[in-house]
Amino acid sequence: MARITASVYTSHVPAIGAALDLGKSHEPYWQPLFAGYDFSKQWMKDNKPDVIFLVYNDHATAFSLDMIPTFAIGTADSYQPADEGWGPRPVPTVMGHAPLASHIAQSVIQQDFDLTIVNKMDVDHGLTVPLSLMCGQPPQSDFRWPCPVIPFAVNVVQYPVPSGRRCFMLGQAIRRAVESYDEDINVHIWGTGGMSHQLQGPRAGLINAEWDNKFLDRLIADPDGLSKVPHIDYVREAGSEGIELVMWLIARGAMADVAGGKPPKVAHRFFHVPASNTAVGHLILENQQ
Ligand code: DHB
Ligand code: FE
Repeated sequence: MARITASVYTSHVPAIGAALDLGKSHEPYWQPLFAGYDFSKQWMKDNKPDVIFLVYNDHATAFSLDMIPTFAIGTADSYQPADEGWGPRPVPTVMGHAPLASHIAQSVIQQDFDLTIVNKMDVDHGLTVPLSLMCGQPPQSDFRWPCPVIPFAVNVVQYPVPSGRRCFMLGQAIRRAVESYDEDINVHIWGTGGMSHQLQGPRAGLINAEWDNKFLDRLIADPDGLSKVPHIDYVREAGSEGIELVMWLIARGAMADVAGGKPPKVAHRFFHVPASNTAVGHLILENQQ
């Protein structure tokens, strides 16, 4: 059977992708941020998954006000990096895993979560920046990401957004779905976006490092309690775009301890302010065998 062996949590910011793509990662502004991911890139090599289930949000790139799926699973064979206004990022095409994605769609929908099935979409910085942070830039001689990726897009852009509670319960359904897949494969689940940031209005530039660090503490030790935090608290404390953090609860809900297993091991924890307008948080949690 397939197993979720680890979960990864990381912020995304378009400027991080631009810094990497333009060769600026060693500049003084960026160096401390990328240093926080040195461990993670080695960890990815030492703990290479067969598939990454990548929870992220689209930023009016593949979707728009025309169509707003709350939860959308990518069942395609591949996804192109999106053009967000400066041309597509020079990163590899994201290869999907249609058989596992279709199985998860079947299982999770039958567990009463309504997913939108997406067979064609481009993926924006919400998905490609976490891949770049965790995997680095693949060499031209072997220009591909280390494994297939199942994109799972959550609407955190246009209200109404899903609650943390629903995200946490969805993560539990995703774990059951993965564990009912016959093939013996190793799956990582990633929760991305956040931490505190606000890009609009009078509070633009808001960062709340204290709240973010408490969120990290509770995500590790009290995810069930954390999942009960209402959306208004995210917006008040972590800014209008801080609501992206509910996506981390999907990944956390898929960990073994939530279903009565052992608490996860914290393999890595990192926090850095600022990257552009955003507080960057990062965690790697491993399920104990
Ligand atoms: C920034 C952060 C985001 O999450 C995003 O989607 C766009 C921009 C920023 O900090 O600049
Ligand atoms: Fe964002």
